Amino acid sequence: MKYLFELSKEHHTLPSAELISCLHAERLPFIIIEKNNDVLVIDTSISESKIASVGQRMAFTFYIDTFLFSCSPTIGNVTEHAKKQKIEQNGSLAIRHKNRSETIDSQPLVQALASVFSRGRNVVLNNPDIEIRAYITDKVLYVGRKLVEINRTQFEQRKVQYRPFFSPISLHPKIARALVNLSGIRAKETLLDPFCGTGGILLEAGRIGAKVIGSDIEQKMVDGCRQTLAFYHIPHDNIFCTDVSSIGKNVSCVDAIVTDLPYGKATTTKGEPITNLYDRAFHHLSEILKTNGRAVIGMGHNDMLSIGKQYFSLKETHTWRAHRSLTRCFAVFEK
Ligand SMILES: C[S@@+](CC[C@H](N)C(=O)[O-])C[C@H]1O[C@@H](n2cnc3c(N)ncnc32)[C@H](O)[C@@H]1O
Repeated sequence: MKYLFELSKEHHTLPSAELISCLHAERLPFIIIEKNNDVLVIDTSISESKIASVGQRMAFTFYIDTFLFSCSPTIGNVTEHAKKQKIEQNGSLAIRHKNRSETIDSQPLVQALASVFSRGRNVVLNNPDIEIRAYITDKVLYVGRKLVEINRTQFEQRKVQYRPFFSPISLHPKIARALVNLSGIRAKETLLDPFCGTGGILLEAGRIGAKVIGSDIEQKMVDGCRQTLAFYHIPHDNIFCTDVSSIGKNVSCVDAIVTDLPYGKATTTKGEPITNLYDRAFHHLSEILKTNGRAVIGMGHNDMLSIGKQYFSLKETHTWRAHRSLTRCFAVFEK
C-alpha cells in the first residue's frame, strides 16, 4: 500500500523529518518512494486506520492520502493514468487540487482528472464520499485519495496568548510538537524538558500521551508551567524548580529530552556565559537520557552544536528563522 503525505512548505527540512520520525516512533515499517519539499510517498504494509492515527500527532503535514499515481503534468499523461485507477462506482466525489507550481496552469489538468473520475457521479463540494487530491508541482503531478486531513488549527488554539500563563519566550505549539515528534517519544514514555519555561513543549508531549517531567530555574515559570498543564488536564506533579545541574537529584532516567535552551537574549542565564551553561546542560542531560534515547535541543546558534557533540552523536539539524534578528537551531542528538 502506498501513502502520499502533503507536507507544509513552512520549512524545507522539518516537515519530512517530523513525519519520518513519527513513523519510526510508532514502530511502523516503511520505505520511502519519493521525498521532496512538497510531498513524501511511502510504501508500507501499515493499515489505513493506523496511518490515520499517526497523523493525529503530526504538525507539519496537511493531508494523508492513499497514493493513486504520479506523472508528468500533461493532460495526456494525467488522463492515461487516471483511467487505470480502480475506484468504486458508488459515492459522491470531489476533486481538490493544490498548485505548487508558478508556471503551470492547473485548470486543464484538473479538468482532465474530472473527466475521468467524475463521469456518471454525483459531484459535491461538501462532505464527498470520495475526495481526489492533486498536487501540482513543476515536474510532477501527484494524485491521491484523501484519507485524513491533519487538524492544524489546534496548534493555533494552543498559542501562549490563549493559555493561562503567558510569556513571549514560548515556542509556537506546532514547532514544539514537531520537536517532540523528532525525539521519537511514544505514549506512556517519559519526556523531560529541563528548561521548561511556560511548558509549551511539555504541553505538546502530554497531548500525545507522554509522561512529562519539567524543571526551570525560575519558580514563577514552574508555577506557570503547572498552571498550563493543569488547564489542559495533563498530569503535572513532576514539575519542579532547579538549576539544570541538580536535575539528577529528581530524575534518574528518561526516554527523551526535548528543550529550548536560553539564547542569552530574551531569556535569562543569570549572568552565566552561554557556552558555560550549554556545557553544564549537555553534561547533566547526557547522564539521565537512556541509551539510544534522543535529545532534541533548541539553541540560539549552531556554533553551540560542537558542545553538544562532546556528549551525544548529532543526527540532524534544522534552522528556523524566528524573526530578523533571531535564527534558532534545532538539533537532534542521540546518546
Ligand atoms: C527559552 S526558555 C524556554 C521556553 C519554553 N520552551 C516555553 O515554551 O516557554 C529557557 C528557560 O530556561 C530557564 N533557565 C535559564 N537558566 C537555567 C538554568 N541554569 N537551569 C534551568 N533553567 C534555566 C529560563 O528561566 C527559561 O524559562
